[in-house]
Amino acid sequence: MISYKEILKTEQKKYINQWKNNAQYYYNKGYYDWMHSHISKFKVILEVGCGNGLSTLTLLKNGHQVIVIDENIECLKQTKALLKNNNYDAKIIKREGTFKEDSKGYEYNYLKIKNSIEKNQILLIQGDVLDDNNLEAWLSNINIDCVLCWLIGTHGARNLNKRISERNMQTATDYRLVVETNACNMCNKILKPGAYLHLVDRGQNPNTQEDTNFYLQQYNQQISLTSLELEEIDFKSFEPYVNDGMTLIGNVDNKIVNNTQDAAFISALFRKL
Ligand SMILES: C[S@@+](CC[C@H](N)C(=O)[O-])C[C@H]1O[C@@H](n2cnc3c(N)ncnc32)[C@H](O)[C@@H]1O
Repeated sequence: MISYKEILKTEQKKYINQWKNNAQYYYNKGYYDWMHSHISKFKVILEVGCGNGLSTLTLLKNGHQVIVIDENIECLKQTKALLKNNNYDAKIIKREGTFKEDSKGYEYNYLKIKNSIEKNQILLIQGDVLDDNNLEAWLSNINIDCVLCWLIGTHGARNLNKRISERNMQTATDYRLVVETNACNMCNKILKPGAYLHLVDRGQNPNTQEDTNFYLQQYNQQISLTSLELEEIDFKSFEPYVNDGMTLIGNVDNKIVNNTQDAAFISALFRKL
């Protein structure tokens, strides 16, 4: 019988090998530059989810210090390689603890992070913002100016993790919303007052003031139990990359948008009070 560990590895690789095509397309179209334009004034950035590293590269080329957290070790490896090709030396921090599996799925725990961070060091940390107690403790001791969570998505074996499947997320859009809400809660705990969280998701252009109000309402609801404040919201029309079945355009209210002409990136910037 194939072990869950093997399935996880296969799915993690499959995911990043598909996503890198989307990311390259977004990079070539300048969409990462648009995302970056909202956070250019911040120095130390924590990036949640690096994909194959093109977003990370955009940040480094613009002079930021970057710490990355990613659940998918294959994403961290591809990011390290891409950065190396661009003359940036990054260090992967592997935190694989015990891996137990039975017929219902697997359980996993992440080890404590022992590293301290040196000036301008690029750390790529294995970790999961949905299920990682040791991560928040470590992050609380670091002066982060802005946390980024851009274009969250995940691989096909995510639901085999028992602590993920018990949350009962049915769609890719559910998953993104849960990760983003968790990022809000995590930032509420780890950020110093005056620091920021930047979310970028895929959705739909607002055609009326009512549509815009809808987005504002959704974001304000997402941060309602935190000391974060929504400072700015912005939209950018984009042409989805449709060749590999990973367009994943969803709306904030969980509706799948079929009309790709209306597709927009949504940028939301929150300040910790
Ligand atoms: C679609 S990629 C986007 C990557 C990058 N932000 C970009 O814009 O190119 C989503 C990334 O989020 C990571 N991710 C998804 N869920 C996560 C979680 N719970 N904790 C940490 N990383 C996560 C995935 O492994 C993947 O690298």
